[in-house]
Amino acid sequence: MPSEREFWPLKATRDVGDARRAVHAAARSAGFRSADAVRLATAASELGRNAVIHGKGGRMTLERLDEGAGIRLEFRDEGPGIPDIEQALVDGFSSTGSMGFGLGGARRLVHSFQIESGAGEGTRITVVRWRR
Ligand SMILES: Nc1ncnc2c1ncn2[C@@H]1O[C@H](COP(=O)(O)OP(=O)(O)OP(=O)(O)O)[C@@H](O)[C@H]1O
Ligand SMILES: [Mg+2]
Repeated sequence: MPSEREFWPLKATRDVGDARRAVHAAARSAGFRSADAVRLATAASELGRNAVIHGKGGRMTLERLDEGAGIRLEFRDEGPGIPDIEQALVDGFSSTGSMGFGLGGARRLVHSFQIESGAGEGTRITVVRWRR
């Protein structure tokens, strides 16, 4: 079965809730445990919020892997990019005076976490969580 992809806009803060709910529903229908679906949905919420707030808007791509054994999410924006990824991942670092737990927190909620970004290049963050 070819894995279908879903695209979710991340233009405004209300889009983040829609994307979060779509991720939770996809995870549950793929057989993820309730707490694991919440983990992935929480990561999606943080990364989606970052794409809206820091990335000036973007989109999320949701893809089922191995017929639902895993879910891959990609967050893409054409914003200013992250000049120092290591620094951005440190708990408590925020360029906007916020809590600064989003990125590091999201990384701990997934099994694979990849950031491609640089100053002026926009940001692509790809995460995977597997059903356990
Ligand atoms: N998509 C993005 N584009 C540009 N910069 C980003 C992006 N995502 C994160 N960053 C940078 O990384 C920093 C850390 O992100 P993180 O989500 O941890 O904290 P925050 O968004 O500032 O605060 P919080 O998520 O706790 O409310 C941000 O302050 C911002 O500078
Ligand atoms: Mg954040």
